[in-house]
Amino acid sequence: MTFAQVLARDAGLVQARLDAALAGAADVPVTHAMRYAVQGGKRIRAFLVMEGARLHGLSEDCAIHAAAAIEALHAYSLIHDDLPCMDDDDLRRGLPTVHVKWDEATAVLAGDALQTLAFGLLCNPRIGSAEVQLALIARLATQAGIGGMVLGQAQDIAAETALAPLTLDQITELQMNKTCALIAWSAASGAVMAGADDAPLSQYGARIGLAFQIADDILDATGDAALTGKRVGKDADAGKATFVSLMGLDGARAHAARLTDEAMDALAPYGARADVLKQAARYIIARDR
Ligand code: IPE
Ligand code: IPE
Ligand code: MG
Ligand code: MG
Ligand code: MG
Repeated sequence: MTFAQVLARDAGLVQARLDAALAGAADVPVTHAMRYAVQGGKRIRAFLVMEGARLHGLSEDCAIHAAAAIEALHAYSLIHDDLPCMDDDDLRRGLPTVHVKWDEATAVLAGDALQTLAFGLLCNPRIGSAEVQLALIARLATQAGIGGMVLGQAQDIAAETALAPLTLDQITELQMNKTCALIAWSAASGAVMAGADDAPLSQYGARIGLAFQIADDILDATGDAALTGKRVGKDADAGKATFVSLMGLDGARAHAARLTDEAMDALAPYGARADVLKQAARYIIARDR
């Protein structure tokens, strides 16, 4: 199967798992907002979990819970990222953002509940032993929190009003936290679930994670809202610190291409079995949405 076929298959599986997880929840606006927020998206993080698991001979029935967990957590991060106090966006995945469709309190609470849902999904014996479940939970607690995504989001907001432009090292650190932390968790989780060495996939995840955020920043500068499903042209106005603001479009594209080469190199131990992950790395910098 090609990357596009695998991505589509995994997207269907993860949507079904998320729908099942929310099926019995109370019939209140927060639940409706949670269901709304977990629809759509490219599902690249779910794909990384599923493909990393396949690489280690694990079943879809084992991996799907971790794939659903990271997509629930990612959906929370997007709801909060779009709030007026953060990026103040009104369009996400081609639809009104949660705080626009409902209100800010519902958006905050739907995000909170999607985050705890993610950890709940990781408490599942189908994933593996209690030790394996705890390893995934502990890593996500760090990488989604003040050791990763939340720290990066705080650095991103602080950079808007920084007195001097951020340096290359500072932007790299910000984006490693904001975006790579969850993508690296996703890429490494197959190895974690298999009790194998996660160093090659963690390295791959960090490189494609940075390239992924560079592509996002390039799409903000040059993309089309009809394709991305979110407003474009906002980062420069908000004074965001990105590889595009630092290096310009050509410099950012070249940097993303270098990172993609490094990501490919990190997959060497897996040989041809990692071909779909290599296709994913190429897609990440070439994408238009
Ligand atoms: C958007 O992530 C936020 C970033 C970290 C750049 P995605 O581009 O993966 O968003 P969806 O899930 O496809 O909507
Ligand atoms: C967001 O980065 C990263 C998150 C941790 C949610 P952006 O703010 O650039 O993501 P978009 O462009 O709104 O999707
Ligand atoms: Mg943001
Ligand atoms: Mg944003
Ligand atoms: Mg963006």
